Amino acid sequence: MLMADGLVKRFQSRTNVITAVDGIAIAVAAGEVLAFLGPNGAGKTTTIKMVAGLVRPDQGRVTISNIDVTGRPALAAAHLGAVLEGSRNLYWRLTCLENLIYWGTLRRLTPRAARTRAVELLRLVGLEDRQHNTVQTLSRGMQQKLALCQALMHRPKLLLLDEPTLGLDFASSETIKTTVRDLARDGVAILLTTHQMDVAQQLSDRLAIIRSGKLVLSGTTTAILTQYSKPMWRITTASPLPTDRIAAVRALGWQVEQPSAEAILVTPREDDADGIYQLLDVLRPEPIRLVERHRADLAEVFQQVVEEGANAQ
Ligand SMILES: Nc1ncnc2c1ncn2[C@@H]1O[C@H](COP(=O)(O)OP(=O)(O)O)[C@@H](O)[C@H]1O
Ligand SMILES: [Mg+2]
Repeated sequence: MLMADGLVKRFQSRTNVITAVDGIAIAVAAGEVLAFLGPNGAGKTTTIKMVAGLVRPDQGRVTISNIDVTGRPALAAAHLGAVLEGSRNLYWRLTCLENLIYWGTLRRLTPRAARTRAVELLRLVGLEDRQHNTVQTLSRGMQQKLALCQALMHRPKLLLLDEPTLGLDFASSETIKTTVRDLARDGVAILLTTHQMDVAQQLSDRLAIIRSGKLVLSGTTTAILTQYSKPMWRITTASPLPTDRIAAVRALGWQVEQPSAEAILVTPREDDADGIYQLLDVLRPEPIRLVERHRADLAEVFQQVVEEGANAQ
């Protein structure tokens, strides 16, 4: 659905040239959520704006459904919906319904079709009770949900979301996340940036992490989380483990850490799938509550990737 290739954007400041985006390629297929991540200033917003045609790249090309939209905001807008950081294209004195109908007609819907679509979307995000309230009376979470409705009025096949859940209360965040998942299930391609790693982990099929305008890690979310997981287990018992049991585990060749009296973190010398059975035998008959394999979460991955990079520079 989206193909962006070799994107480069430089900004001229008074004293020097900043290369905000330095050769980034991204692709998002129909029905896929790509989490586009990076520390502050990495170039995420600039990239998204190039995809939306709002910033003209110095190099590179953007196509949506094979249509070249590079630097063409009107053409890009016809094919995508966007909720961009900070700027919500909402009129404060108009009601929710009026905003959506107005926007829908700009996107070439008839007033009648726009009204039907608006009511449908307001219902989808739980704003139907607010349809006749002006934007200025809405909470931030409600405004964000309305901005999402606005982006969806013309049923775009590509959705750009820059920090969609930043600063929202729990319920509004959940609504936005559920809506994103449902849209992807219906075949919409979604490009999402966020600093909330839990949100990215829950929603994304694939990840692209950038730093200083360059791609540093990309792949499917599952594969990346597996790759960064350690061959370590956490075993929790119902009562404190006797020291002789811990010694016996060490004698089997496991490295043992003990974060609390009722838990041990064990790492085998070699990652051997059967080793855990021997280890549990050694602990018999201690009452075991939980045996968990270590699984990296995206926050750990992100920290490693971004820190490793920073140290290497
Ligand atoms: N209009 C602009 N003029 C000059 N520099 C800019 C402009 N927009 C962004 N930048 C710079 O480009 C870099 C990337 O910014 P941005 O894309 O906003 O990063 P992110 O969204 O990942 O935080 C930063 O160093 C930022 O200061
Ligand atoms: Mg940004």
